[in-house]
Amino acid sequence: MLKNDLILRAARGESTERTPVWLMRQAGRILPEYRAVRNSLSGFKELVETPELAAEVTIQPVDILGVDAAIIFSDILVIPEAMGLTYEMVEKKGPHFPKTVESIKDIEALKVAHPEDLSYVYDAIKITKNELNNSVPLIGFAGAPWTIFSYMIEGGGSKTFSKARRLLYSDTALADQLLDMITESTIGYLKRQIEAGADMVQIFDSWAGVLPATHYSRFSLKYISKICDAITEVPITVFAKGAWWALEEMNDLDCRTIGLDWNMDPNSAKKILPNKTLQGNLDPCALYGSNEAIKEETKKMLSNFGNHPHIANLGHGVYPDTDPEKVKYFIECIKELSTH
Ligand code: CP3
Repeated sequence: MLKNDLILRAARGESTERTPVWLMRQAGRILPEYRAVRNSLSGFKELVETPELAAEVTIQPVDILGVDAAIIFSDILVIPEAMGLTYEMVEKKGPHFPKTVESIKDIEALKVAHPEDLSYVYDAIKITKNELNNSVPLIGFAGAPWTIFSYMIEGGGSKTFSKARRLLYSDTALADQLLDMITESTIGYLKRQIEAGADMVQIFDSWAGVLPATHYSRFSLKYISKICDAITEVPITVFAKGAWWALEEMNDLDCRTIGLDWNMDPNSAKKILPNKTLQGNLDPCALYGSNEAIKEETKKMLSNFGNHPHIANLGHGVYPDTDPEKVKYFIECIKELSTH
C-alpha cells in the first residue's frame, strides 16, 4: 500500500484532501544533484542505461522537492532506438538521429521493438520502486506515436516539422505503416513498465500542436487510442501539447487524465472533459517570478480548476535554468492553498 496515493486517487476522479502535484521533467537539470551524477558519466545515454543511477535521479525530486510522484528517468527516444534507429544526445542541442526514415526501404530495415531490448528501463523501475518503499507512486511513460514518428523522420527537433507532415500527404500508407510499428512497440513497452512496477503511465505528444486538426485525429489520436485500449492495468494520462482543438475528441479516449498546456483554458476544459481528471497547467515561466507572483499565479490556477479532479503540474516540462527553490515554493503553495 502506498503511503501517499493522492495522485492515483485524483486520477481515478476521487476527491482528495488536497491537490496532488508533480512536475514534467522534474528529474533533470534543474537539480545540482542530478548534474553531479550526470557529469560523472560519459553522457545522458549512459545515465538512462544504468538502472541504479537512473533510479537515483528518479528519486531525487521526491526527496528534494517534495512532489507527490516520481517519474522514471529515461527518454521517449528509447523506442526508436529499440526499433533500430539509434539516437545521440548532443550537449546543449538535444537529440540527433544520424540516420532517418525516408523510404519504404528504411522502414523495412526497422522492427517492432522487442520489449526485452529495453530491460534497463524495467530494471530501473524495479530498483526505484524498492527504494521508494511505497512512499509515492511511480509514473512510467512513452512518447505518442506521432511525436516519435516526427523524430524518426526529421532526425531531431524542427521549427516546422515539414518533413514529417509532408509524408502524411505524400505517402499515407508509408506513414501508417511506421505509426503502426511505433504503436505496437509502445504497447509492449508500457505493459512491461507496468509489470515492473509503474503505478500509472503518461503518453507525451509533444509535437501534437504542429498538425492540422483533421490530421491530428487521423494520424495521432487514432494511434494513441489504440494504446489506451491496450493498456488496462493502470490509469493513463495523455498530454498533447498545443492540441487545444482536440480536447473534445480526447473525451472519447479510454484514459483517466488529460494534461493541459498553459495555453489551454481550465474552465473550458472542465466543460469539454467532465469525466476526466485534468493535469497542469501553470506556465513554466511563472517560476521565474518572485515568490509573491508564484503564489498569486498558483492561486489563480487552483481556482480555475475549482473542484474538478485535478493533478497540479506545469503546462510543459520545467525549464532547465529554473531555480529549484522556486520549484519548491510552487509545490509548497499547491500543498498550502489546496487543502480543503
Ligand atoms: O520528466 C522527467 O523528469 C523524466 C525524464 C524525461 C526526460 N525526457 C529526460 C531528459 C522525460 C519524461 C522525457 C520526455 C521527453 N524527451 C519528451 C516529452 C516531454 C516534453 O518535454 O515535451 C521529449 C520531446 C523528449 C526528447 C528530448 N530529450 C529532447 C528534445 C531533449 C533535449 C532538450 C532538453 O530538454 O534537454 C532531451 C534530453 C533530455 N531528456 C534531458 C533529460 C533530463 C536533458 C539532457 C541531459 O541531461 O543531458
